[in-house]
Amino acid sequence: MKYNITVSKTEASRLSSVDFDNIPFGRVFSDHMFVADYQDGEWQDLRIVPFGNFEMHPAAMVLHYGQAIFEGMKASKTVDGKAMLLRPEMHAKRINASAARMCMPAVPEDLFLEALHALIDLDQAWIPPQLGSALYIRPYMFATDEFIGVKPSQRYKFIIFTGPVGPYYPKPVSLIAEQKYVRAVNGGTGEAKAAGNYAGSLLPAKIANEKGYDQVMWMDGSEFKYIQEVGTMNIFFVIDGKVITPATDGAILKGITRDSILNILKDKGYQIEERPLAIDEVVKAHEAGKLEEVFGSGTAAVIAHVAKIAYQDKEMVLPPMEERKIGAMIKEEIDGLRAGTIEDERGWVVAVQSDILVNI
Ligand SMILES: Cc1ncc(COP(=O)(O)O)c(C=O)c1O
Repeated sequence: MKYNITVSKTEASRLSSVDFDNIPFGRVFSDHMFVADYQDGEWQDLRIVPFGNFEMHPAAMVLHYGQAIFEGMKASKTVDGKAMLLRPEMHAKRINASAARMCMPAVPEDLFLEALHALIDLDQAWIPPQLGSALYIRPYMFATDEFIGVKPSQRYKFIIFTGPVGPYYPKPVSLIAEQKYVRAVNGGTGEAKAAGNYAGSLLPAKIANEKGYDQVMWMDGSEFKYIQEVGTMNIFFVIDGKVITPATDGAILKGITRDSILNILKDKGYQIEERPLAIDEVVKAHEAGKLEEVFGSGTAAVIAHVAKIAYQDKEMVLPPMEERKIGAMIKEEIDGLRAGTIEDERGWVVAVQSDILVNI
C-alpha cells in the first residue's frame, strides 16, 4: 500500500440485520466508510471508520455555495463469489474532471482506488451474492471551510460509503421532452457530477410526474431541439438498425455505462453514431415506423427501456419489448461481465484486492 490508511473497525456490525433478498434502494448502509480531509494543499488523515454521522459547522461552505460532487458505482460478486469492480479507474478520472470544473482539489487516482479497494475488501460481506444485486458505492467530496463569501473553499472532505442494493429492473419508462427547463447548457456544469445539477432537475421532474410521465427527456438549452439525456441517464435511440446517442458536447454527463455500451456495440459490429440528435428526426423516424428502440443507460439500471415519449402534442409509442433486441443484449453483456459468466476481453473487470485486512 502506498498510502497510510488507518482502520478502526466497528464493534457492532449491522450485517446480520439486513435481509439481502429484500433491500430497499438507497436506505441500507454498510458498516464502514472511508474519510479523508483536504487541508494545506493535501489529503490528510486517511481513515476507514465505522459508518456514522459527522458534525458540520453552520457556515460550512458546501451548505451555501454548493461545492459538492459525487460518483455512483457498484461492486458485485461473480458467480464463484469473488468481489469485483467494473472500470473503477473511469470513476476515479470522472470525479477529478468534476472536481476541476467545480474548483475543487483532485483526489489522486491511486488514492481513490486504494481507498476503494480497502473499504470494499473490509465490507465484502455486504456485497449481496444474489445475481443482479450489488454493493452500491458512493464516493463524494464537499467544501468544509467555515466562511461566508463566494470563493473556492480551502478545505474539503472526501468520503466513500457503500450500501447493498437489490436487482433493479425498472419497468419501461414514459418520457416527456422538456420544453421549458434545462438540465445543463454548454459551458455550464452538466458534464460534472455536481450535486446542484440534481437539485435543479427536481422541479421539472416533479412537473413531469404530475403530467403522468416517469422522467424528463432533457433538451438543449438554446433551441429545445436537440436531445441530451433522460432523467439521470444517457440516452440511446435505435433508428432503422443504427444506434444513435447524442454526442457529449459539454452539457451531457459522460456516462461510463454509455462508454461501455458504445464499445460493446462497436465490437459486435453494430453501426453507431455519436452526434447531435434532433427531436424532429426521432418524430420522423417514428412516423416512418423506423424508431425501433429507445433506452436510457446508467450504473443503477444498466439499461432502462423507454415505453413512450411525449413531445409537444404528440406521443410516440415504442414497439413492444419482444421486438427490441439491442438494449436487452447490452444488459445481458454487462450483467454477464459482472457475474463473470461472460469473458472480459477488454480488461474492465477488476478484482477487489487490498492488504488492508492483514495490516489491522
Ligand atoms: C445526469 C446523469 N447522466 C448519466 C448518468 C449515467 O452515468 P453512468 O453510466 O456513469 O452511471 C448519470 C449517473 O451517473 C447521471 O447522473
